[in-house]
Amino acid sequence: MPTNIENICCIGAGYVGGPTCAIIASKDLDISVTVVDLSQPRIDEWNSSRLPIYEPGLQDIVEAARDGSGLNPVTLHFSTDVKGAIHRADLIFISVITPTKTVGVGAGQAADIKYVEAAAREIAEVATSDKIVVEKSTVPCGTAEILRDIFDAVGDPQVRFEVLSNPEFLAEGTAIADLLSPDRVLVGSEGTPSALEAASALADVYSSWVPRERIITLNIWSSELAKLSANCMLAQRISSINSLSAICEATGADIQEVSHSVGLDKRIGPNFLKASIGFGGSCFKKDVLKLVYMAETLHLPEVAAYWKAVVDIKNGKRTALAGTTVDGKRIAILGLAYKKNTGDTRESPAIDFMGSMLAEKATLAIYDPKVSYNKIIHELGELFGHEAVARYVKPCENAYSACRGASTVVIMTEWDEFKTDRLTLPPALDLGDLTASRLTTPTVKRADSVSSGIPSSQSEDRSSCDDDGLLSPGTPPTNTNSPAPELINQAQALFDSYGPKRLDWARISTLMRRPRLVFDGRNVVDASKLRSLGFLVQSIGKKSEGVLRR
Ligand code: UDX
Ligand code: UDX
Repeated sequence: MPTNIENICCIGAGYVGGPTCAIIASKDLDISVTVVDLSQPRIDEWNSSRLPIYEPGLQDIVEAARDGSGLNPVTLHFSTDVKGAIHRADLIFISVITPTKTVGVGAGQAADIKYVEAAAREIAEVATSDKIVVEKSTVPCGTAEILRDIFDAVGDPQVRFEVLSNPEFLAEGTAIADLLSPDRVLVGSEGTPSALEAASALADVYSSWVPRERIITLNIWSSELAKLSANCMLAQRISSINSLSAICEATGADIQEVSHSVGLDKRIGPNFLKASIGFGGSCFKKDVLKLVYMAETLHLPEVAAYWKAVVDIKNGKRTALAGTTVDGKRIAILGLAYKKNTGDTRESPAIDFMGSMLAEKATLAIYDPKVSYNKIIHELGELFGHEAVARYVKPCENAYSACRGASTVVIMTEWDEFKTDRLTLPPALDLGDLTASRLTTPTVKRADSVSSGIPSSQSEDRSSCDDDGLLSPGTPPTNTNSPAPELINQAQALFDSYGPKRLDWARISTLMRRPRLVFDGRNVVDASKLRSLGFLVQSIGKKSEGVLRR
C-alpha cells in the first residue's frame, strides 16, 4: 500500500472535488493532484479564467496551483483523461454525485450510488499498482463494502485496494475557510493493518495544514454515518426553527427573538437557527432521505418517521408562501441561489416557489448576483417548460430592473446586498465629519444614493448593465444643500470600502407598483424601515399586518 502519497486523482470536478483538490494542491507542493471529470466543458472551464463554480477565494487558489506561482510548481491539473489519472495515482478520491433514486426500489428516498460504483469499477479495471480509494461523496452506510466487492470481483488479484471514508464537511460559500480550517477531518478505515497504513497516508496529506488532533481516525461505518448524521442534524435544526416560525406567524411572537434567546443557551448554541423559507442545496434533503430509507430498511419505522418530518416541514413552509394570488402580476424574485455566496441553485427553495407562481401565470423578474442569465433560463426551462419560461421569466441584470413595475418582491436568498442594515452612513462617515485630509482619491462609479443616505447595491461587475438611471461619476447631486460632489463621491468610496453594498430600498419603492409587498423569506430586511418607505412587509416567523393578514 502506498505510504507516501505523490500522486492524487479526484474523480468528479464539482463543488466538492474542485475546491478540495485546489486546497490540497496548494498546501502539499510535492503532491501532483489531477481532478478528472466526464464532462469536457466542465474541465475546460476549470482550465480557463472563468471557473465553473463561484466560490469566494477559489479563483486565486486554483490559478496559483494550476498555473504555478513564483517559485511554487504546478501541482493542480484538470483533465478528462480518467484512466490515465487513475493509472498514475497512489490515492483516488471519488467525488461524484449520489442523487436520490427516481425509479425502482427506494425511489424518492434511497441514494443512487451508480456513479460511485462506476468510478470504482473503472479504478478496478485500470489499476496496475496498489491504490487507496477514498469515498468523498456522501454515501449510504455500507457503501465501502460494495466498493470492496467491486475491487475483489473486477480488480487484478495482484493489485491491492484499500477503501477509506473521508467525507467532506465544506459548505458552499465558505468552502475555502472550511477546507483550510476544518472542525475535523474524518478518516474511516476497516481497521486492518493495511487499512490503517492507508489511513495514515491520507492523514499525512491533511497534516500539511490541519492540526493532527483534528484528524480523527475511526471505523469506516462510523465515518460514513457521521457524515450523514451531521447533515441530518443541521437540517433538523433548521426545520425545528422553521416549525417554530410558523407558530410565531400565527401568534405574534418574533422568530428572531425566539432563536436568539434559545441560542444563548450554551447547550444549544446560536448556529443554524436562522428561520428561512426552507433549506436548500444538494445535500440536506438528499441526505435526510438517505437516513429515512436506511431506517425503513432496518425496520425502524419510528426513526424513519422522525427524520421524514424534517423534510416535510421544509416542504410545508414553501406551500404557505405560495398562497398569494399572483395571476398576471409581475413578481420580483431577489435571489435564486440556495444560499448567499454561491451560484448553486440545486434544491433552492426559490425553485419550487417559482413553479407555483408560474402555474398561476405570474411574470417572474429574477435577479441573483451570481446566477447567470443562461443558467436561469436553462434550469427553469428544463423544470417548468421552455415555452412557459420564455414567456413568463425575465432574468434581470440588477435588483432595480427586476423590481420595476412589480407589485411584489420576494427575497429568496440572503445576499448581503438585499439587507437594510446600512440605511444610514455610519457615524464615522458622517459627511459633516469628513475633512479633505481624511479623504483619498475618489474611485467610485456611483454617487446616486449618498444624498439619501442609502448606499447603492450595484455589484461592480454588473454596474455597466444598469438600465435604471444610476448617476454617472461626477454627476452633481440634485439637492443644492448637499456637500460638494467630490466629497460625496469620496464619502461613498469610504462607505463602500467598509463592506458589501446594499440595495437602495427607497429607490425600489419608487419603481414598484402598489401595494408594494415585500415577502422576506430570509429575514434580511428591517420590516419597520421598509414600512416607513411605504412597503407592506411579510417576514418569515413574524405576524403579518394589514392586508397581508390572511
Ligand atoms: C457531489 C455529491 O452531490 C455529494 O454528495 C458528494 O459529497 C460530493 O459530490 P458536488 O461536488 O457538489 O457533490 O457535485 P457536482 O458539482 O455535481 O459534481 C460532481 C461531478 O462529477 C460533476 O462534474 C460530474 O460531471 C462528475 N461525474 C459524475 C463524473 O465525473 N463521473 C460520473 O460518473 C458522474
Ligand atoms: C451543508 C453542510 O453545512 C456541509 O457541512 C456539508 O458538507 C454539505 O451540506 P451547504 O448545503 O453547502 O452545506 O450549506 P449550508 O450552509 O449548510 O446551508 C444549507 C441550507 O440551509 C441553505 O439553503 C441555507 O440557507 C439554509 N440555512 C442554513 C437556513 O435556512 N438556516 C440556517 O440557520 C442555516
